[in-house]
Amino acid sequence: MELKRFRNYQELSEFVAGEIADSIKNKPSLVLCLASGDTPKLTVELLVNKINEEKIDRSKITFIGLDEWVGLPPTNSGSCHYFFKNNLIGPLQLMTSQYFLFDALADDLRNECLKMDKFINEKNGIDIMVVGIGMNGHIGFNEPGSSFDNLSHIIDLDEITRSVGQKYFNEKVELSQGITIGFKHLLNAKKVFLMANGSKKAEVIKKTVQGPVTEYFPASIMQQHENGFVLVDDDAASLLSNPD
Ligand code: GLP
Repeated sequence: MELKRFRNYQELSEFVAGEIADSIKNKPSLVLCLASGDTPKLTVELLVNKINEEKIDRSKITFIGLDEWVGLPPTNSGSCHYFFKNNLIGPLQLMTSQYFLFDALADDLRNECLKMDKFINEKNGIDIMVVGIGMNGHIGFNEPGSSFDNLSHIIDLDEITRSVGQKYFNEKVELSQGITIGFKHLLNAKKVFLMANGSKKAEVIKKTVQGPVTEYFPASIMQQHENGFVLVDDDAASLLSNPD
């Protein structure tokens, strides 16, 4: 794992968007998995602009959504589905065969997990995974206590995730479960970027980078990834000892 520090959110986002764009140029059939949430918003915007402006071939890329709130329709503006449809899949005009997002309304959610695992395997794994970090150290919906061996799975959400998650919605919603790609896929991904910005993420970044590796603090898994990068702005790095 490597820590990289940026002056601000803009520079952090430009770096990640640039890395992804360059990777698509080198490998047009890139398999990209992204988290939604506030953190990667600017990255997605910059990436789409870059692909469009530089006319980068997007016809062979595959996109995978990291997670979803169980029970939410894709029309809900706080859903991950809604974010990706409107900000990435739509603007890049990806074909339906080019992406997979969890259907959080599926009758058989277990089967939805199996479909995701099959999709990832058929694509020979994820090339680049971009994740954020929750206030309890989760990645995707891999909540504290989630096994590092998990494939895609359904999980009861932690109290912190339920309350922090309200920020994505215009009105109060009942958040009880999540469906998510598991850590086995993260460990198998060829490259992982964990992004964090703002002082509210300083404590969880300190634990991620300098704390013990434990399933009780999920993001500590980054220390086990040989090609894992923890990318932070100055505010998120502010509690690290010897940050440089
Ligand atoms: C959410 C999502 C994660 C996201 C994380 C951080 O609950 N399940 O995929 O990365 O929490 O979100 P944010 O970037 O809004 O801080």
